[in-house]
Amino acid sequence: MAAEASQAENATPPLPQITVIGSLNMDLTSYVSRVPRAGETIMGDHFSTGTGGKGANQAVACSKLAHVSPGHAPLERGPLAKVKMVGAVGGDFFGQELISALESQSVDCSNVKRIEGESTGVAMIMVESSGENRIIVTLNANKKLAPADIGDTIPGDKPDLVILQLELDLKTVLHTISVAKKQGVPILLNPSPVRKLPEDVYQGLDHLIVNEMECRMLLGHANPARELTQEDMRKAGFSFVKKGVKNVVITLGPRGAFYFNHQHEFGFVPAQFHGDVVDTTGAGDTFTGAYALGVVRNKENFNIAFALEDGAHAAAWTVTARGALSSIPHLERLTLPNLRFDHSRRDELLAAIRAAKGDSIGISKEDAAMSVDKDSGDSPSNWALSEDDLDPVPEKRPSENGDGDERPAKRHCEDGA
Ligand code: RIB
Repeated sequence: MAAEASQAENATPPLPQITVIGSLNMDLTSYVSRVPRAGETIMGDHFSTGTGGKGANQAVACSKLAHVSPGHAPLERGPLAKVKMVGAVGGDFFGQELISALESQSVDCSNVKRIEGESTGVAMIMVESSGENRIIVTLNANKKLAPADIGDTIPGDKPDLVILQLELDLKTVLHTISVAKKQGVPILLNPSPVRKLPEDVYQGLDHLIVNEMECRMLLGHANPARELTQEDMRKAGFSFVKKGVKNVVITLGPRGAFYFNHQHEFGFVPAQFHGDVVDTTGAGDTFTGAYALGVVRNKENFNIAFALEDGAHAAAWTVTARGALSSIPHLERLTLPNLRFDHSRRDELLAAIRAAKGDSIGISKEDAAMSVDKDSGDSPSNWALSEDDLDPVPEKRPSENGDGDERPAKRHCEDGA
């Protein structure tokens, strides 16, 4: 009896399950010094064919960040999560390549359907020497993933998180969201490429990750006049929360990321830099994957600022190499990997990093003051999202801990504004 009890105590808890329902594309990428003008032909410097698609990238990001690379010594606490991909590819060579690429990264593809006679999704990508990209996606087989393929429950074991983007037929995305809500499965929506969504999508949505452009489009401001200010983002975050979203993240590329949650806490986490920016393709997907691991690893003590910080670290590696899936880092690439994604042990991580680097990774007041606020002479009337356009910012302000703790969740925009 005693032996059994002690065995039960030592039993490892089951790995959290993340299910990604989304696109798989073959990325055809030309690297160019600049993009051509209308009617102009230019020479590319380099071309590559690589596996991608926002769904596949996010699934692989979750899985690579949850595992060490093949051949690397196992880490003390083993893999961090199981990942399943649900999607559709064609019966062509690209389809087979994609499935093999995902399976080689331990992503379960048993619910990726192959459609004979259909082409796999393709993305034509141009990457400029600055690392910035422009992408045209042709969905092909991705569009054929139907609500019936999802059915009445999320395929496979009930996941701890379902992740969706918008590179599928919108009917399938909306059906999946309603199924997940009925089943009580937390949802992370990354509405990219952006499309207007029905209002009821937001009600009960656990996590919404948007970039600046998507944020504007979803709130009805299609023509960006300039970068979002801190104030714009607070108002936008509040608007999404009022619609029913629990955690809103606005990614800002090299400026970092902003969050606003249902407790009306908000803050900014700066971007990280681990080397020269070579190709930004897949950086947003890596950020989402790292954030998702933070969600499933910390059900009781999820800390959105820590999740953003993990996202920023992981994405900073992705931009230093060409390609999407191939440039996503494995777990051992992140600093002190045994502690990352574990919010309850974050103090330990911070202390270890401080000891190693002699400084802190917390957010300074300078970081928290968005450069756009400091540098811009624009008057509020020039803001892309004006006070009249958005809901007012709530009266409630996040509480200050005032204990000198440098954890980002306890820092807020107004600290440095
Ligand atoms: O987010 C990057 C991805 O967008 C690329 O891999 C491409 O396939 C497009 O879906």
